[in-house]
Amino acid sequence: MKYDYKLLMERAKEASKMSYSPFSKFAVGASVLTGNGKIYSGCNIENSSFGMTICAERCAIFKAVSDGEKEILAVAIFSPNESDCYPCGACRQVMYEFQGEKEIEIITAEKDKLNIKKMSDFLPYGFKIHG
Ligand code: THU
Repeated sequence: MKYDYKLLMERAKEASKMSYSPFSKFAVGASVLTGNGKIYSGCNIENSSFGMTICAERCAIFKAVSDGEKEILAVAIFSPNESDCYPCGACRQVMYEFQGEKEIEIITAEKDKLNIKKMSDFLPYGFKIHG
């Protein structure tokens, strides 16, 4: 076991309770483990202007990056509405931007079972500008 997957999922679950999703009623929470060993969590936040909605994963990632954390090692995602809630395409691209030397691990919950996959399972041949 590489990281504390259980703790990451607990943080994602806690964050899902903060979800602001009156329109879809689909709550999501996410947590990210950074290269410095910190955990940031976030929830989906919807808006009356629907396109302004932010997903839980990007909320958590942006909190981490805006705190100076530029490497992501793992992302846990939880929704009370869906078993194995997978990240949307936009979030996959944003995760990929902050992948460092180590491939990001993506943790989802199937009831009490944690499933661990890799970034490349979700986004093979990802796009990144290597300035
Ligand atoms: N959502 C997330 O937060 N993460 C995902 O990976 C999938 C979708 C949110 C966006 C919106 O608030 C709701 O789930 C329904 O699409």
